[in-house]
Amino acid sequence: MALARLVDVHTHLYLPRYAQMLRSRNSVPRILTSTRDGKPDDRLLILDHEPSGGRPVGPQYWDREEKLKFMNAHGIDLSVVSSANPWLDFLPASEAKTLASQLNEDLEQYCSDSPLLSPSLKRLYGFGLLPLVPEISTDALVQTIEQISKLSHLKGIIMGTRGVGKGLDDEALDPVWAALETAGLVVFLHPHYGVDEKAWGDKNNGHVLPLALGFPFETTIATTRLILAGVFDRFPSLRLLLAHSGGALPQLSSRLASCIDHDPVVASRLKHDARWYLGKLYFDAVAYGPEELGFVSDVIARSERFETGSSASAGTPVDRALGSRRMLFGTDHPFFPPLQSTEKWRSVVENLQAIDTVAGWGQAEKDGVRGGNALALFNLG
Ligand code: URA
Ligand code: ZN
Repeated sequence: MALARLVDVHTHLYLPRYAQMLRSRNSVPRILTSTRDGKPDDRLLILDHEPSGGRPVGPQYWDREEKLKFMNAHGIDLSVVSSANPWLDFLPASEAKTLASQLNEDLEQYCSDSPLLSPSLKRLYGFGLLPLVPEISTDALVQTIEQISKLSHLKGIIMGTRGVGKGLDDEALDPVWAALETAGLVVFLHPHYGVDEKAWGDKNNGHVLPLALGFPFETTIATTRLILAGVFDRFPSLRLLLAHSGGALPQLSSRLASCIDHDPVVASRLKHDARWYLGKLYFDAVAYGPEELGFVSDVIARSERFETGSSASAGTPVDRALGSRRMLFGTDHPFFPPLQSTEKWRSVVENLQAIDTVAGWGQAEKDGVRGGNALALFNLG
């Protein structure tokens, strides 16, 4: 029987070259270097109007040994690492293009020099970066996809929600989706901007509202816009992995379908009921609770009901186990560190316990979400 592996698909880093660039900047995003009681006390300022003077930042963000130590402490066999937000979004096009290609080479090296997990597998693989900024040429984007597809340890790309300035439903991105589909690279869609900060009011709630609600709503909106723009109809083999279990999209998908049904302009544009598209997506399992994970797996499985020719009707029980096959364990390391030093991080333990206690998932489903689904998605045999 194949060994059950634990694979982390949502784990970040700032490559040393990128961290250096953040240190050299004097506006957000930046790393503010300072000392406290003679020790380094660097702060990461990446959000506009970053609350609480920024978040502590240190070697856990860039040192590969720290990543491996974290993996060992939590029994993680293999990680597919991605650059953390805000990627290259804030750079001029020429700088973004050059840095993307350098960072992709850096990440390939970071992964290819990592220890072996088995004779055919390393412990680290990665998601590359595209220079998705306004005024970039389509050629530059497609060339970067070609570069990534030749780097054998890079299995996909991470992207935010801005595209080249007009969001991900911009037709200008069609050649990018086409090239990603052809290259078989997985797209990890990750938030950064949240929603209009006026929604947060004037109480000091620290990072809670932007991270707990703003991030997942941003992903919800971006994915919905992709569905409405027909991107999954035009690029049916595109593989999109959604951060934070797809945010609110699973919960809102029937409402979305109903709103589309009542809007003839949009309804005529789509090939399927909105709920069908959720069965084409992949969802990380960074949701922190077994009920949420079970629900997401139900919604994924339910998409079959909207398959053309399906005789299943509303109320037919869904196959929760089937839905679990599109869900993948993640940690969001090095974000959400423990407040006191402990060997295991609460954020990780909670996500593992959640997977372990979903009603209706047997050992095969749990092993799949813990790692088997990721090995299959990234073709890591
Ligand atoms: N905060 C961030 O800025 N990014 C993450 O990925 C998680 C938390
Ligand atoms: Zn993340």
